Amino acid sequence: MHRIAALITATLLAGQSTEALPLTPTGNPHPVPAYCPFIQTKFLPFYNSGNQKWNDAPTLSITVNGLPLIATMDTGSTGIVIDSKYGFNTTYLQKNCEIGYVFYSSSHWLQEGYWCTTDVDVGGVVTSALALIRTNEVCCPKFSESVDGNRCKIREKACVCKGTCTSTADQSALTRRILEEDEEISKIEARQSTTAAVGKAYMGVGFARGNPPSHNLFMNIKSIDGVPVAASKFRTGYVINSTGVWLGITKANTAGFSAVKLNLREGNADNRDWGEPPCDVQINDGSWVTGTFLADTGIPNAYVRGDVAHKEGNDITIRIPEPSNPFGEVKFVSVPKAKAGTIGTENPMQPTWVGVRSIPGVNAGRKFYNGYDLYFDGDGGYFGLRKKSI
Ligand SMILES: *[C@@H]1O[C@H](CO)[C@@H](O)[C@H](O)[C@H]1NC(C)=O
Ligand SMILES: *[C@@H]1O[C@H](CO)[C@@H](O)[C@H](O)[C@H]1NC(C)=O
Repeated sequence: MHRIAALITATLLAGQSTEALPLTPTGNPHPVPAYCPFIQTKFLPFYNSGNQKWNDAPTLSITVNGLPLIATMDTGSTGIVIDSKYGFNTTYLQKNCEIGYVFYSSSHWLQEGYWCTTDVDVGGVVTSALALIRTNEVCCPKFSESVDGNRCKIREKACVCKGTCTSTADQSALTRRILEEDEEISKIEARQSTTAAVGKAYMGVGFARGNPPSHNLFMNIKSIDGVPVAASKFRTGYVINSTGVWLGITKANTAGFSAVKLNLREGNADNRDWGEPPCDVQINDGSWVTGTFLADTGIPNAYVRGDVAHKEGNDITIRIPEPSNPFGEVKFVSVPKAKAGTIGTENPMQPTWVGVRSIPGVNAGRKFYNGYDLYFDGDGGYFGLRKKSI
């Protein structure tokens, strides 16, 4: 995904204090910080509440300009694309927003629109982040930002966006653009088809996934049930379990968790632009390889890179944050994409299939949430897990 005009408006909202908190003295080598002062929070049940085994991506009911939408909640990307038909007009967009686009280089669809700080109501929690308001979607296989700017100059055909829009005009350009990572392709295709569907939106709420915190609706919360959030009482972040998500970290909703401190990303956009948590990967009895961990609610499969290329039937073990004293451990077997969903299915944390990650570590996909609840402290930079009792 490419974008320009990174309009990084450092919106100074409440709840952004990052001063160190004392850790809770529990004897746990990986304690969560003492979240006692923070009491503003709300639990939002998933809209697809029957999805408790994580077969599908979780969804939440949201409203934009008073209009209801069903939004996929994706921890593997950051940012939201909303169609302008949900209450945006050209006059407003031209006056208040900055021209921009998102280009899906694998499918060649260009989303033309405006980067616009947009209020979204997520079940009574009002949040405001930089969204792409999409005004048009065109098949643009030859799109080049440096040549075309923000708009498609040579469109192939005008049609409803579905699947890959192919061009016979420039095969070499097509081939170049298809040379993208599988992990990215699956994500942008899901995002594109969801955004194209009537009444739907795709809401990326992850961290360390490209766009900075200014794009993340879960990191820019303004009020909860009409009460503005206050820095002294509200801790930005979320807790995900199998039935919903808490917005706002508290002592109560992080009880039973262990946590690891996150580092800011290299070239961080602001002081809440956290990197991925650490993990170690082992293939069969091989050596442990240190990498990064992601539990991406957007995908049912996984991507793993360890010391050797994993093959069908290989045992894969992941320990978080390190192998010697982990608070999280996942074991599953390598399954090729062609045999998706047929191997290891008695294990609730078994991904449907396991691809190769481009960087060391794992994207364990959403089946991970069958074994653990997860929390992210966006103000202080902590990542935590709590083993389910099942
Ligand atoms: C455009 O949208 C703005 C903001 O929602 C609204 O105030 C204005 O009346 C709208 N204009 C038209 C012509 O619909
Ligand atoms: C998730 O948390 C909510 C709120 O605390 C709770 O009501 C629900 O039972 C939890 N779900 C699971 C599966 O633990």
